[in-house]
Amino acid sequence: MQTLTLIQPDDWHIHLRDGQALATTVPHAATSFNRVICMPNLVPPIKTTAQAIAYRERILTALANADISDTRKSAFDPRMVLYLTDHTTADDIATAKSSGIVQAVKLYPAGATTNSADGVTDILGRGAVFESMQKHGIPLLVHGEVTHNDVDIFDREKRFLDEILSVIIKNFPNLNIVMEHITTSDAADFCLAQDEHIAATITPQHLLFNRNHLLVGGVKPHFYCLPILKRESHQKRLLEVATSGNPKFFLGTDSAPHATHTKENACGCAGCYSAVHALPLYAAAFDGVGALDKLENFASVFGAKFYGLPVNTSTITLIKQEQTIPQSYSYLDGKTLTPLLAGQTLAWSIQ
Ligand code: DOR
Ligand code: ZN
Repeated sequence: MQTLTLIQPDDWHIHLRDGQALATTVPHAATSFNRVICMPNLVPPIKTTAQAIAYRERILTALANADISDTRKSAFDPRMVLYLTDHTTADDIATAKSSGIVQAVKLYPAGATTNSADGVTDILGRGAVFESMQKHGIPLLVHGEVTHNDVDIFDREKRFLDEILSVIIKNFPNLNIVMEHITTSDAADFCLAQDEHIAATITPQHLLFNRNHLLVGGVKPHFYCLPILKRESHQKRLLEVATSGNPKFFLGTDSAPHATHTKENACGCAGCYSAVHALPLYAAAFDGVGALDKLENFASVFGAKFYGLPVNTSTITLIKQEQTIPQSYSYLDGKTLTPLLAGQTLAWSIQ
């Protein structure tokens, strides 16, 4: 049987949510990943270092109660992120830096996605905060979409690059920036054209699927995430850069749980839940283009290097053995959570 042993990966972009959700999401994430960058778009968001510290404690309590091995428990390391608002100050960044707990700051343009109502309205007006982040070496993680109603949803990422991100980079050339969950060839090529301060994460769904999967034959709500899946030519370019061995591109699942009834809904929520099967999903994408040899650096090395963290020392082994993804998991109080590709067969499994 074909096996693939990798350095233990980290997930540089995940949504664990809060409260009861943690009983589901934390063991799922901890099964595969050591460090996870925990997105702060809770209700209300994580805006201060004190809130980030308290949130991390709640995650660790869920971890202690989880039914997973002690080895996985001790390896799991949630890294916290502050949610940038119109009111975040340069001092907030200094406090975040000195905490040693806050790994990054997340920029959600107001209204761009789930729980982004408190996001930034005047992004280029946040210069003092970007200056402080540049000074303290705190990376800026961007949800790169403009939000104007008159901009087509399929063009929102490109417009963000042209109108916002290029200006931030010009004004703050030493600010480390992660272009989160990129979805277009434009974003991939933009990232390639920048220096080493700029990197990008790529999700499993944007490597495996395109907008036909979402829309042909009926609307498939479990493929709906933001930024939305684009046309196949973009998917192909993302696969090219992810498997190119370029350290600018690394793993960030953007696993984003929403209870099944809130996705299978007349106004369905955005987010694909992939935490459990993320590695077999990435393996399928890389295997599909004959690039399994490039998976380890993408999943386990390049992200750590970008964040200036040591590469993990433990390993995880994938085997080429079919598995069927469950139809759902139990979630919250009596609810269910439908994973990406529920009920479908995957060629790779975690040993
Ligand atoms: O699809 C998404 N879901 N995109 C995001 O940016 C947020 C996420 C969520 O929190 O559900
Ligand atoms: Zn996200």
